[in-house]
Amino acid sequence: MENIKKLQDEVRAVAKEKNAIILAHNYQVPEIQDVAHLTGDSLELSIKASKTDADMIVFCGVRFMAETASVICPDKKVILPVPDAGCEMADMINPEKLQDFKDKHPGVPVVTYINSTADVKALSDICCTSANAVSVVKHIRTPEIIMTPDKNLALWTQRHTAQKIYIYSGFCPIHDNVRTESIITAKKRYPQAVILAHPECPPYILDIAHAVKSTSGMLEFAKNSKEKEFIIVTESGLIHTLKKQNPEKIFHGIEPEMLCENMKKTTLGNLLIALKKEENIIKVAEDIRKKAYIAVKRMIDVPRD
Ligand code: 13P
Ligand code: SF4
Repeated sequence: MENIKKLQDEVRAVAKEKNAIILAHNYQVPEIQDVAHLTGDSLELSIKASKTDADMIVFCGVRFMAETASVICPDKKVILPVPDAGCEMADMINPEKLQDFKDKHPGVPVVTYINSTADVKALSDICCTSANAVSVVKHIRTPEIIMTPDKNLALWTQRHTAQKIYIYSGFCPIHDNVRTESIITAKKRYPQAVILAHPECPPYILDIAHAVKSTSGMLEFAKNSKEKEFIIVTESGLIHTLKKQNPEKIFHGIEPEMLCENMKKTTLGNLLIALKKEENIIKVAEDIRKKAYIAVKRMIDVPRD
């Protein structure tokens, strides 16, 4: 405990000296979330970072998040403490695979989930997050849309629009693996609890949830709800933030625990080294960045419901 506090103090001191801002995704381990200047989902973190006067962004998350920060904030040095912290879903598509899919549906606009690499975003018309996918698709208005890479987010979106969605077959292994029995067991154990599930889960899981929310949506829901007990069906790191923000409420995960190994690779030790040495810099090539920025910016400009 003492060691954690000492490392956190050192991380904050070095960050101050270098005018760096530390961002942590909601799935990071508690000691990383606690040392960060800002926590949140990937997009809100990058947007907030672009508005600060920090010279450096240290993104405690996975590679696509640091890339998004580089796309939005080209003048800042972006560091990903662990260079091989990737996202299995983002890696299920690449520009060649997307181009093949586009060729099968010529002229159909492409909506790409923020959980994707910058070169895939660069080939897309607009991005979306789990928080705004339905608004983005409705905003486009065309009768047909391609959604990539997450099939479950696309299936969820399809329930909310009459537009025809062509669905790419990617998925998040952590969310896609959730079994109905896990939810039933949790429900039996905590019958009063409200079930919140992430749209990266399969349709049959979303059917038994009380509400379907992104990580930021779950935080908002829990804060504003009169209910006191919740079952959280997303990566278990979010439970730390939920408890911290709502000390009077109770939050349960499911079994087996939903764990994204890549999200847990960042430690105070490797964060401190990367910050001190300014290593593992993520810089998106300017030609890709400009195109990816258009897709991200179009999404940011979509009015929220
Ligand atoms: P959100 O935080 O945008 O809900 O995304 C979840 C996720 O899987 C990030 O990797
Ligand atoms: Fe990717 Fe899933 Fe991990 Fe998020 S939880 S980083 S979508 S593998």
